[in-house]
Amino acid sequence: MPDALPSAPAGLLAALGAALGPRGLLTEPADLAPYLTDWRGLYRGAALCVLRPATTEELAAAVRLCAEAGVAMVPQGGNTSMVGGATPDESGRQVVISLARMNRIRDLDPVDMTMTAEAGVVLKAAQDAAAAAGCLFPLSLGAEGTATIGGVLSTNAGGNTTVRYGNARELMLGLEAVLPDGQVWNGLRRLRKDNTGYALRHLLVGAEGTLGIITAAVLRLFPRPRETEVAFCAVRDEDAALALFRRFRDRDETALRAFEYMSGTGVDLAVRHIEGVAHPLATRADHYALVDLASSRPDAGLRRLMEDVLEAALEAGEVLDAAIGGSEAQRAALWRIREEHPEAQKREGASVKNDVSVPVSRVPELIRRCSAALAALVPGSRPVPFGHLGDGNIHMNLMQPEGMDPAAFLARSDDIMDAVNAVVRELGGSFSAEHGIGRLKTDMMEAWRGGAELDLMRRIKAAVDPRGLMNPGKVLP
Ligand code: FAD
Ligand code: MLT
Ligand code: ZN
Repeated sequence: MPDALPSAPAGLLAALGAALGPRGLLTEPADLAPYLTDWRGLYRGAALCVLRPATTEELAAAVRLCAEAGVAMVPQGGNTSMVGGATPDESGRQVVISLARMNRIRDLDPVDMTMTAEAGVVLKAAQDAAAAAGCLFPLSLGAEGTATIGGVLSTNAGGNTTVRYGNARELMLGLEAVLPDGQVWNGLRRLRKDNTGYALRHLLVGAEGTLGIITAAVLRLFPRPRETEVAFCAVRDEDAALALFRRFRDRDETALRAFEYMSGTGVDLAVRHIEGVAHPLATRADHYALVDLASSRPDAGLRRLMEDVLEAALEAGEVLDAAIGGSEAQRAALWRIREEHPEAQKREGASVKNDVSVPVSRVPELIRRCSAALAALVPGSRPVPFGHLGDGNIHMNLMQPEGMDPAAFLARSDDIMDAVNAVVRELGGSFSAEHGIGRLKTDMMEAWRGGAELDLMRRIKAAVDPRGLMNPGKVLP
């Protein structure tokens, strides 16, 4: 980071201050600090200032001022990006635009089953608002207490319930956004059917802030579950985890809300590092599955379904042992073992993270081959594969060997990611399933999405943001 920040273009800070008021403009280094690093601690940037607009109009005015001054803008929501997407570069010439103060739920309609939420609404707050109206907003991920609606849409986040409800994209009907020149686009339509030319809303979803700033969205709601069941299962191996998933899907696809895979190493780390997380089984295994069933029918008979399927899987030798949560608190405790995986790994030391997907049928092969390749590549390292088995999306993470210098381990990051990606490519998968590209993975785009695909992406970027002021250095190499 430069010792002294370069001076702002003449008059820009004063004009931004006038447009946003004192609460909307941060310039003191101590105030800026939390906006300049990412959750993983991979990046440390610098910025001219941080803007915190309270309304779409304020944001549009600020974007116009930055555009006129030729200053690049980095949108930021909850700053939980796993790929450095919301962190400014080290130049000190970029402006961070935090959506945190735009956190109103503008409308919730239980007839249309929609919620219109501003970009800075925290995901958990959106879930709570839906629940208070007797509905469900189903997107759910470990960072839901901090991640925002703007962030989850901009990354097209997946998470734990994608297997049933789809990614963030599938949960969005309409958008409002400020474009790179400061124009406001109001596409807040709450229509289930709307074929009117190019679907611009889908262009902004997953664009990671490179095409404009999402200010509000119309989100789809669902009937709230009246019955839920959660089971934590020790399974024989990776094939047994897939077989168990298929048993539940075949028995009643509509009941399955989440199906997550965990390794023995990952579960042990969660139990060791996270206060209040306890192993629920007498059996210790190398592989585990978490099954979540939910239904809006009050008489769905989910307990029976859960027990029947687990019994059959136990008889077949696929499941070795299982605990079914008997209360809301127990179900939450079982989920915590899975949700705390990222935090537990962080506390254990350095880890190289991967976010890959393959066809669901290839998940066992993915885990086996990658684990073997990684253990051979860095002797003593500990593969910690976990994640969304039902979507074919496994976080093929690798923990540093105990006692190794974290920096020396992280110096091997490229080799480690390459080893995982080589397997993923052979299995017909993707190197980036749900976290996005951010800063971390731009150099993989050429190899994976080169040719016509990347060319078209570049032309779209040039058409929408010809001066390259929206989150430069992210997504596109
Ligand atoms: P930020 O981190 O602030 O930003 C993410 C990207 O979106 C950046 O490129 C930023 O510039 C852009 N952006 C943010 N807001 C806007 C906006 N309003 N308009 C335009 N661009 C914007 N992700 C998953 O998909 N599934 C998971 O299961 C999951 N689990 C996680 C667990 C933990 C513990 C953590 C720390 C992260 C996890 N993530 C997961 C990653 C992260 O939470 C998601 O990517 C999330 O969508 C980011 O939301 P955010 O508000 O924090 O966005
Ligand atoms: C999760 O599913 O918990 C996160 O997406 C994964 C990670 O921390 O790698
Ligand atoms: Zn995930």
